[in-house]
Amino acid sequence: MHQTDFLVVGSGIAGLTYALKVAEQCPDKKVTILTKTREDETNTKYAQGGVAVVNDLENDSFEKHIEDTLIAGDGLCNEKIVEIVVKEGPERVNELIEWGARFDKAPDGELSLGKEGGHSEFRVIHHKDVTGREIERALLDAVRRKSNIELITHCFVVELITQHHLGYLVTKSTQDIECYGIYVLNLQTNKIEKILSRVTLLATGGNGQVYRTTTNPVIATGDGVAMVYRAKGRIENMEFIQFHPTALYQPGESPAFLITEAVRGDGGILRNKNGEDFMHRYDERLSLAPRDIVARAIDSEMKITGTEHVYLDCRHMDLEKFIHHFPNIYEKCRSLGIDISKDMIPVAPAAHYSCGGIKTDEHGRTSIGNLYAAGECASTGLHGANRLASNSLLEAMVFAHRCYLDAVKAIDSTSFKQVPDWDTLGTTAPKEMILITQSLKELKQIMSDYVGIVRTNVRLERAMRRLDILHLETEALYRETAVSPQLCELRNLITAGYLVVKGAMFRKESRGLHYNTDYPYKSELVQNIIL
Ligand code: FAD
Ligand code: SIN
Repeated sequence: MHQTDFLVVGSGIAGLTYALKVAEQCPDKKVTILTKTREDETNTKYAQGGVAVVNDLENDSFEKHIEDTLIAGDGLCNEKIVEIVVKEGPERVNELIEWGARFDKAPDGELSLGKEGGHSEFRVIHHKDVTGREIERALLDAVRRKSNIELITHCFVVELITQHHLGYLVTKSTQDIECYGIYVLNLQTNKIEKILSRVTLLATGGNGQVYRTTTNPVIATGDGVAMVYRAKGRIENMEFIQFHPTALYQPGESPAFLITEAVRGDGGILRNKNGEDFMHRYDERLSLAPRDIVARAIDSEMKITGTEHVYLDCRHMDLEKFIHHFPNIYEKCRSLGIDISKDMIPVAPAAHYSCGGIKTDEHGRTSIGNLYAAGECASTGLHGANRLASNSLLEAMVFAHRCYLDAVKAIDSTSFKQVPDWDTLGTTAPKEMILITQSLKELKQIMSDYVGIVRTNVRLERAMRRLDILHLETEALYRETAVSPQLCELRNLITAGYLVVKGAMFRKESRGLHYNTDYPYKSELVQNIIL
C-alpha cells in the first residue's frame, strides 16, 4: 500500500505546477504525481499558440484582457474569477520562466506577442508554434530536480476513494463527502492498488476523445470529471465544448493536427471552396472573431458548399516570417505536399476544449473535501460559455497556484483513513476487445453527429437514448470484467458524453459554444448548469 501527503493526478501544466509548489513549500512532505501513460503525453504538450497574458502595459491593460475574456464568454463568466486570472497571470508566467521555460523574444529583447481570435491586442507569448512542448519540458525538468516529488507513469486512476468505500451510503445530497485517496490500475502489474492521500488534486485534462475528430491526444478521456460525477461531486456547464475552427483536414487522422489561431493572427484568411473570403458575412472581426463564431461560420459554409472543409490561405504571408514563427506547421504541411506559399491549407473544425468540468471555487476546491481540481478538467468560472484563445494554460497555472496555497494550509488537518482493498470478486479477464472498441466508435459517432457545433432538441434526445444503451451495456461489462484502461476510458467517455448531452438539454437557449436551433436566442436567465 502506498501513502502520500499530496497526491496529484495528471502531469500536464496544472498538475506539475501545483506539485512543484507544494514540494517547495513542504520539503518534509511527500508529493506523488500519477500519469496514465508517458509523463509528457498530455494536452499541454500539444499547445501551439501560447499563453495569453498582459505584458506590454503601454499598449495593453488588464482591463482589456478582462473585457475580451468576458465578451468571448458570452455573459456567463464569473467576473471575479476573470479578474483573478488576468491579474495573477503575469506572476505565474514569470515563475514558469524561472523554472526554465523559454518564450520567443522580439528584436527589442521583449517577449514576442502573438494575436488570436477574440483578443483586442497582441498578448500571446509563445515558443514558435510548439509552446506546450517547451512548457512541458521545462516543468518536467524542474520536477526531476525536486527530491520529494515522485512521478509514477503508466498508472491509470480508476476511482476516487470516499466514504462510499468505507460502507456509507453516499448520494448527491450527502454533505461532507471526502476523498481519502484513489484506486489505481498499475499497468506494469495489471493490479489495482490503493494510494491513500491527505490531499488530492485532479489535473486530468479534457475530454476531446468523446468526438470523432479532435485535436486532443488519446489521453483526453474525461476521467477526472467522470470520477467526480460517480463520487457524487458537482460538475458544471459540460455542454460548452469548444471546437477549434482550424484543424488540418486529414480524414481519418486522429488526433487532428492543429493549425494554430496565431496563423490567422499573423494574417491567414479563411476561404470557402470557391475561394471566397466568407467571414465578412458572419462577423466584423472576420477570421479573428471568437472561436464559437468562426467555427459556426465554417460549419455553415461547409454545409452551403457541400464540402468537408474550408481553406486557410497563407499564400500572401511573408514565407520567411511564417517559417520562423510556425516551423512545425510549415513542416507538417510540406510533408503532406502542401506548399503554403502556393497552396491553401484545407481546414475543418475539431473538438478542442471542454469549458465546463468539475466545479471549483476560487481556491480550486471541489464539492468533495480534500479534493482539488485545476486545469482543463475544472470549471472555475473563467471561460463562461466560450473560452478566449490561449486562456487555458494561464488558468491552469493560476489555479494550480491557488490550489497549492489552500492545500498547504489544509494538509495538517487531514489524516489517512483505513480503506479496504479493491474488490475483484466475480470478474474475469475480458474475452474480446470488440465490445469495447465498437462501443467507443458508436459513442464518437453519436456525439459527432448529434451533439456537435449545431444542436437541435431532436438530435439531443436521440443522442441521449443511444447513450443510455451504451451506458447499460458498458456498466454490465464493467461489473463482470477485470478492469482495463480501455474499458475504464470507455466508461468515462460515456459519462462525459452523457454530461455534455444532459447539460445541452437543460440549457434552453443558445449561448457561446452551445447553439440549439430550437432555441436560437440567449435567455435573459443567466445560469450555470450544475449536474
Ligand atoms: P493535460 O495537459 O491534458 O494533462 C492531463 C494529465 O492527466 C495527463 O498527464 C494524463 O495522463 C493524466 N490523466 C488523465 N486521466 C488520468 C487517469 N485516469 N489516471 C492517471 N492519469 C490521468 N491552451 C492555451 O492556453 N494555449 C494554446 O496555445 C493551446 N493550444 C492547444 C493546442 C492543442 C492541440 C490542444 C489539444 C490544446 C491546446 N490548448 C491550448 C489547451 C491546453 O493545452 C489544455 O487545456 C491544457 O494543456 C490542459 O492542461 P492540464 O494540465 O489541465 O491537462
Ligand atoms: C491555438 O493555438 O490556436 C490554440 C490556442 C488555444 O486553444 O487556446
